[in-house]
Amino acid sequence: MKETRLNHIVGKVKDMPVLPNRVNKIIKITEDPDSTIEDLEKEILKDQSLTSKILKLANSAYYGYPRKIDTVSQATILLGFQTIKSMALASTVSKMMAHELKGYALGENDLWTQSQTCAIISRYIAKEVNFSNPETAYIGGLLRDIGKTILNFYVEREYKSIVNKVEYGNLSFLEAEEEILGFNHAQVGEKIAEKWNFPKDLVEAIGLHHTPEKSIVNPALVSIVHIADAITMMMGVGIGADGLNYNFSSFAVETLEGFNPENLDQIMSKSYDLIVDKNSFDLNIQ
Ligand SMILES: [Fe+2]
Repeated sequence: MKETRLNHIVGKVKDMPVLPNRVNKIIKITEDPDSTIEDLEKEILKDQSLTSKILKLANSAYYGYPRKIDTVSQATILLGFQTIKSMALASTVSKMMAHELKGYALGENDLWTQSQTCAIISRYIAKEVNFSNPETAYIGGLLRDIGKTILNFYVEREYKSIVNKVEYGNLSFLEAEEEILGFNHAQVGEKIAEKWNFPKDLVEAIGLHHTPEKSIVNPALVSIVHIADAITMMMGVGIGADGLNYNFSSFAVETLEGFNPENLDQIMSKSYDLIVDKNSFDLNIQ
């Protein structure tokens, strides 16, 4: 029975849609040091909705540019290639993450809102601790729970046994998922990230966002996403069924030298400011 379910879950991951060609092309251009603004602009302009989101973000208060930005090339210069990459990816996954997930007690758009919040906090913490690529942290934060979109169906069916394990078996929701279903949502997310050919550090950040102490490839990135995830839950954004009992892993706190948990109030209030700015936040819902 468990074996059948495991194969079924792996099959579901295999059936996940691949990233559209257009998005893969944009990712390639942003990662190629020889590409020019014109190369990227040409690709962006093929997608009307992405074009308008990029212009909206460039003109948001977050960037505080004094004059109106009305061309994609100006916006690309202001935002940078890495931010454009995050936006192209976000506009694709928003559709996958906007559905209601009954197994996790998440209503329509809850996971998506929560993921954008976690992404923004990840980028903010990355900058605070001088992490080399804050945009990678953004993508890690955005996708850390994507495995829930697949596991939801099984969690819903086994909800009682999972909650029983949490209440009486002294397990976390994540451990109960793994014990009852054979996979936890982080492991399923890792498989999706592998399928999408993400770099190793991002695959790891998604797979270990609840267990950063297992990190080998990039402990700082995993720790940033872990802490941002915990802060998102503490802020109560679309908290869902597994939103209780979140703590920072001491490994993550020790790994990020520039992060001081005593400044948590300050970090949370800064995070509220960032997500309250609608123009820089809710850009990607179709
Ligand atoms: Fe998670």
